[in-house]
Amino acid sequence: MQRREFLRNSCMACAGSALGLSAFSLAGCASLPLVKATHENGGLSFPRSAFAEATQVIVRHPELSYDLLVVKSADGTHRALYMRCTHEDQPLSATAKGLHCTSHGSRFALDGTVMTGPATEPLLSFPVTSAGEFLTIRTNTP
Ligand code: FES
Repeated sequence: MQRREFLRNSCMACAGSALGLSAFSLAGCASLPLVKATHENGGLSFPRSAFAEATQVIVRHPELSYDLLVVKSADGTHRALYMRCTHEDQPLSATAKGLHCTSHGSRFALDGTVMTGPATEPLLSFPVTSAGEFLTIRTNTP
C-alpha cells in the first residue's frame, strides 16, 4: 500500500468513526419534552398535545421537589412516576428505556420497578386521568 493510499484510507476511517460517533451522541443526548403543569381538576394538569411527538414527557411544578415522568402506554393510558430515587432521595434522569440515578447507579423500568440496585423499592407512581384536551396527574392518590 502506498503512503498516499494509506493516508486516504485512514482519513476516511476517521471521518466515518467521527460521523458515527456524532450520530450516536445526538441520539444519546436527545432530551424529553418538558411541560409545566398547573393545579386544576384536583391534580396537576397539562395539555394532551405534549404527547404529539413523544411517548414520554417530563412534567414540572414549582411545588414538587422532583419532576414527574409521564409515560404513555401502547393502549393509550398514561402513568406518572416521581423522579426521586428510592435509595437516598436523589433526582433521576430519564431515557427512552427507563430512569437511572447517577449517585449510586440504580436503574428503574418505565413502570417504576427496580431493574438495578442499590435501590430496592419501586418509584412512587400516580394515576393520570384524561378530560378533553388535558391530562391530570392525581398526585393525591399514589
Ligand atoms: S441515591 Fe439513587 S442509587 Fe443511591
